[in-house]
Amino acid sequence: MEQLLHLDDITKRFGQVTVAENLTLSVGAGEVLGIVGPNGAGKSSLFAMISGDLRPDSGAVWLLGRDVTGVAPHTRTRAGIGRTYQVPRPFEHLTVFENVLVCGYQGAGLKGRQAWRHTMGVLDRTGLADLADTPAGRLGLLQRKRLEMARALGTGPRLLLLDEVAGGLTEPEVAELVTVVRQLHAEGLGIVWIEHVVHALVKTVDRMVCLAGGDVVADGDPMAVLADPKVRELYLGSGPEGVS
Ligand SMILES: Nc1ncnc2c1ncn2[C@@H]1O[C@H](COP(=O)(O)OP(=O)(O)OP(=O)(O)O)[C@@H](O)[C@H]1O
Ligand SMILES: [Mg+2]
Repeated sequence: MEQLLHLDDITKRFGQVTVAENLTLSVGAGEVLGIVGPNGAGKSSLFAMISGDLRPDSGAVWLLGRDVTGVAPHTRTRAGIGRTYQVPRPFEHLTVFENVLVCGYQGAGLKGRQAWRHTMGVLDRTGLADLADTPAGRLGLLQRKRLEMARALGTGPRLLLLDEVAGGLTEPEVAELVTVVRQLHAEGLGIVWIEHVVHALVKTVDRMVCLAGGDVVADGDPMAVLADPKVRELYLGSGPEGVS
């Protein structure tokens, strides 16, 4: 399998807090990897180091065989990384269509009719076509999460990073989201999905990683990772759904 992402011996500390310590992790092209781990384990920080919002103290980030460790976020977007944020960040006053169009212009380098067509395609795939003309500020939580995904897809990524897109949704809404992610997987996109709603991950991912203490605690088949005694111990008392 072609390697899409490779984190090589990453270390990152915020004062006394270690979010990554000699962490090494790879994602293959077209693979869907789920990431679980306790609150504050450093999951979102890992995404920030992949997308370029945060620079590791040491170690390297490789994307498609290229060392992008010192490369600016917008250049990484052009190189194929699209991410969502745990707290959605749309332009509230722009419409859903305009929010995604901007990403097509800036992230994918598209212009004119091509950008327009690409945006409509993304809205279709994320179930937002009927809301194209609605200002982002008027959307409910499910739609905001979808728009966050649509904006990431708007940049034309090879690797999509999803940070807790199912959090706070009802069960039927989570099921809808799972359908969207599975469809993206079927289209061959590489996906890394951080999620506390573990049953959504189990239905979607090929492989699961549990992060804690700045490193990988378990990595492999999702059910095997969830059954791992080290993982179960991490969740004792505060268990996410699905780990019981
Ligand atoms: N920019 C920053 N400056 C200082 N500390 C930070 C910064 N970003 C994150 N941290 C700290 O690093 C730790 C890991 O945070 P991070 O957001 O990566 O965790 P997480 O695994 O995504 O947690 P959650 O499941 O709650 O989203 C936390 O203790 C957090 O307070
Ligand atoms: Mg987080």
